[in-house]
Amino acid sequence: MKSSKLRYGQKKMRTVGTTPVMLLRTEETVHATGALCKHMAWPLAWGGKVDEGCITCPLHQSRYELETGDVREWSPFPLFPAYGKLVGSMRKKRPLQVHEVRETEGWIEVRLSS
Ligand code: FES
Repeated sequence: MKSSKLRYGQKKMRTVGTTPVMLLRTEETVHATGALCKHMAWPLAWGGKVDEGCITCPLHQSRYELETGDVREWSPFPLFPAYGKLVGSMRKKRPLQVHEVRETEGWIEVRLSS
């Protein structure tokens, strides 16, 4: 995708081959991760909140580190009643895929991780 199509703070979903990827530009870099939350496949570009190097899914607020994809929190929402924890226990906790990304000559390029 063209670099100019992804402004600071923007998140966009693209498909690389058959793999849905989320692209996100932060102050420091461009991230390329799996596009769908590993909990129940919510598209993270649709309302995912980015702060402190993490993205938080808007549905049950699972939280992933952007650099590594590691899970910081797994389906904590809502707390009362403890529906989030119950729904979280239905799916195995899994990290978000992180793909290699670079910007060159006005383009963002992604290499899918295996
Ligand atoms: S779908 Fe993302 S936390 Fe449940």
